[in-house]
Amino acid sequence: MKLVHTIDDLRAALASHASPAFVPTMGNLHEGHLNLVRTARPLGDVTVASIFVNRLQFAPHEDFDTYPRTLEADCAKLAEVGCDIVFAPAEKDLYPEPQVFKVQPPAELADILEGHFRPGFFTGVCTVVMKLFQCVFARSTAQGYAVFGKKDYQQQMIIRRMVEQFAMPVTIVGEETRRAADGLALSSRNGYLSETERAEAVQLSLTLRDLARDALAAGGALPEHRAGLEQRAMDALRARGWAPDYMTVRRRLDLQPPTAADAVAPQSLVVLGAARLGKTRLIDNFEI
Ligand code: PAF
Repeated sequence: MKLVHTIDDLRAALASHASPAFVPTMGNLHEGHLNLVRTARPLGDVTVASIFVNRLQFAPHEDFDTYPRTLEADCAKLAEVGCDIVFAPAEKDLYPEPQVFKVQPPAELADILEGHFRPGFFTGVCTVVMKLFQCVFARSTAQGYAVFGKKDYQQQMIIRRMVEQFAMPVTIVGEETRRAADGLALSSRNGYLSETERAEAVQLSLTLRDLARDALAAGGALPEHRAGLEQRAMDALRARGWAPDYMTVRRRLDLQPPTAADAVAPQSLVVLGAARLGKTRLIDNFEI
């Protein structure tokens, strides 16, 4: 496995490859990330992972400075799952001047849910993903692939739209969320949880499952009942000491509130939640 730090070195390493399969990450890798690499491997003619903690997607009060940087351990894990190239740029390698050109996703996709609680987050994500795609795919002559975890459901949906709208030669592949034995979605931020919080953390997914069950039971009457069901899910978490940002039922396509027709169409809904447990903010979702 080759470790490269600059865009020039990455492009040189990719020069003889026509169809890279790419997994962008911020490092501190867990089994969920490694699974993305396993999915990527058979798709292209070379497998690339990036490790870059992207300042642009963190608000000033968020955990950019303390986000774990574990390059050596990450590289060992990536080598084990057969990654060919790791691109780990320093900030000056990826953003040599302040990155003032940015990708602005549309408000109706990016200012709701995560974007409502983390203003500017998706501008930061789209900007770095666009730039990473330029580094990885600009020289490829065939279709490339990029694999994203469905845990960041809105992120994946927005990146799909970005790729379509900019006619980028990249197929976005969504990978199912990996979970711990008790059902907690794997996340780099799980490492922030105390032992007691870790035992409690599974309640986010359990409460989302209850919301999913109630939404399906409502059927075509979901639009009338949705607000009440969501409130009940938020209250259930609050009663256990959580501070929920949202617990919601949306249609998969664009994460807008479902109509009665959406509610009865097969495979059209997703439940999504974000909530803070102590100092740690967790997100999760289930397609229903
Ligand atoms: O999902 C992540 O880890 C990040 O948002 C990404 C896609 C690597 C961009 O920094």
